[in-house]
Amino acid sequence: MSGGDGEVLHGGHQEDPEETTEQVWERLYTERGQRWSGRPNQRLVEVAGEFTPGRALDLGCGEGGDSVWLAQRGWAVTAVDVSPTALGRLTAQAESAGVADRIAAICIDLATAFPDVPDGGWHLVSAQFFQSTLALPRTAILRRAAAAVALGGLLLVVDHGEAPPSSNHHDVVFPTVEETLAELALPSDAWSPVRVERSTRESEGPDGQRVEFVDNVLALRRV
Ligand SMILES: C[S@@+](CC[C@H](N)C(=O)[O-])C[C@H]1O[C@@H](n2cnc3c(N)ncnc32)[C@H](O)[C@@H]1O
Repeated sequence: MSGGDGEVLHGGHQEDPEETTEQVWERLYTERGQRWSGRPNQRLVEVAGEFTPGRALDLGCGEGGDSVWLAQRGWAVTAVDVSPTALGRLTAQAESAGVADRIAAICIDLATAFPDVPDGGWHLVSAQFFQSTLALPRTAILRRAAAAVALGGLLLVVDHGEAPPSSNHHDVVFPTVEETLAELALPSDAWSPVRVERSTRESEGPDGQRVEFVDNVLALRRV
């Protein structure tokens, strides 16, 4: 499973109102061992696989399946997550893949902080299933990330289009890809669509069964 395929959709829930975002995600990651498969997300592979490697930002990178895959292809990756445990697993995976020197792992809450933007910006900003039932200023974070995309670079936002079949969030109404695009309010003359669609794929569910997932894929190139 990638992070988009989990039986817990967006990181569980606060057990008490005082619990911070970091504490909620830490609980999710520490309540058992490795949570995701370590494999890269399919939409990232499909879209970023076509791009020349440069500098990449992986927002809400989790255990790092995407970051490690990007680094193996020659990208210099800034991997950001609020969970120290997830980032520890990312670092271990990067070390065993021999790409730790190509990944800067940064532990911050993106609701209140943002990584330093490199000169010229990132050639790829990827947000894969960066969705949460917790309070998260997602649109503001994605807008800030979009502003940090280099000219000619790619903004890739992949979201759940529907709750995964095995999830416990079937009551959640997900924004369409058009709604997400409208919320970002990016100037249309500065962005060229690469892929803007709802797309289904088959993957493995938590019990190894084949399950259909629905993704909203938003890929825009900065022009
Ligand atoms: C559903 S997981 C997706 C992980 C990864 N992108 C993947 O596809 O496997 C969402 C990730 O976002 C992180 N996250 C959630 N809220 C965050 C925040 N405010 N700041 C930084 N990371 C956050 C979580 O810790 C979690 O690792």
